[in-house]
Amino acid sequence: MTDVAITAHEVSKRFASHTERATSIKERLVRRKAASVDFYALRDVSLEIAHGQSVGLIGANGSGKSTLLKVLAGILRPTEGTVEARGRIASLLELGAGFNGELSGRENIYLNASLLGLTRRETDKLYDSIVEFAELAEFIDNPVKHYSSGMYVRLGFSVAVHVDPDILLVDEVLAVGDEHFQRKCLNKIAEFQQAGKTILFVSHSPDLIEKVCTRAILLDHGQVRFDGDPYFAVAELQKLLGTDRPDSIPDEGPEGEITFGPVVFSDRPGGPGMSVFPAGSAFSAKVEMTLGANSVKALHTVRTVVLGVGDIPIWVMTATDDDLPDGPGTWELDFFVPQSPPVKGRFVLIIQLFTEDEELITYHRTQHAFGVESEHKLGIIGVDYKVGSTQVATG
Ligand SMILES: Nc1ncnc2c1ncn2[C@@H]1O[C@H](COP(=O)(O)OP(=O)(O)OP(=O)(O)O)[C@@H](O)[C@H]1O
Ligand SMILES: [Mg+2]
Repeated sequence: MTDVAITAHEVSKRFASHTERATSIKERLVRRKAASVDFYALRDVSLEIAHGQSVGLIGANGSGKSTLLKVLAGILRPTEGTVEARGRIASLLELGAGFNGELSGRENIYLNASLLGLTRRETDKLYDSIVEFAELAEFIDNPVKHYSSGMYVRLGFSVAVHVDPDILLVDEVLAVGDEHFQRKCLNKIAEFQQAGKTILFVSHSPDLIEKVCTRAILLDHGQVRFDGDPYFAVAELQKLLGTDRPDSIPDEGPEGEITFGPVVFSDRPGGPGMSVFPAGSAFSAKVEMTLGANSVKALHTVRTVVLGVGDIPIWVMTATDDDLPDGPGTWELDFFVPQSPPVKGRFVLIIQLFTEDEELITYHRTQHAFGVESEHKLGIIGVDYKVGSTQVATG
């Protein structure tokens, strides 16, 4: 198998923009005109997903996420472009997709598994474990049209993960499962990741995307708007939706005298804002703050701490006396690192203001992070090492 599990090349999907039936001749004529306006649910989407990657697909309602999953799963044919997938795909798409409501849970397991390419005998072997994972033994002979949304998802997910797929495509349906089942699904997904399987899943939960995925793709009106670090993908989405948190929150200093403006990360002092840096590159963090006369008098030290995941301090930069504002007003303080340490990851800053007696006046934490990328894939730093192996016993 090559490295690439899924390739989409310039994929567009067009839908007819009206679906209602025209009732009169006049309406039909008018409608025909309207129908000529094509609606693109996906436009020129190109992407490659490597084997073993866990990719999140995010975007506003109607941005084309489910359509993209269906196209990749081969359920919808793209209007333009090509899709190629290497390996067995199992998908959990819309609620009830792939199920026949009149049939029982048991019959649907066989139906579903056969759609995924399993023989009856192969399904016989997996049957008990599918039902057990779904926790539906009690209802397995009832027609699925009487199942609740959560029960549908349990059955669908259970079948999808039991057929030993190489690629798992999951729409946001998981969200309808209860907490207990969601946890089970997440454990299963972690198992899949360990086993080197490819996962593409849609979710509206930023936490989940950041926790599970190493990469996220943001769709906007059917186009790829961002493809990269999940944290930044989520931040881009929040900007689009207008739900992003402003970078500057006024912090209460003594008598509310200190406020912080935006913090700008760049590769040189005063340079344009950047959010991703190559490891070892120059790095500048510009902090804007407004101080009143009392706080200027009290201020003695500004300590800027670069925090990694879990708020672990990575490095600390301190400014005192001469480096600091000496009068009331708005000041920019620029911390410049000519060569940043070769530490990969995502970082935020916490800026702490102290008096001469080391008493904390106030602090400000950046909401937006910056990322450092590096050649090495695993771990936060790359080191040179040698391995030796010596036999100490036979047998
Ligand atoms: N079969 C169809 N016929 C016509 N339009 C469709 C069809 N399927 C999807 N669309 C349209 O394509 C657009 C993208 O839909 P899609 O379901 O892919 O969005 P989504 O990103 O999954 O949204 P959500 O977050 O609400 O699930 C929408 O405007 C939708 O109305
Ligand atoms: Mg959808």
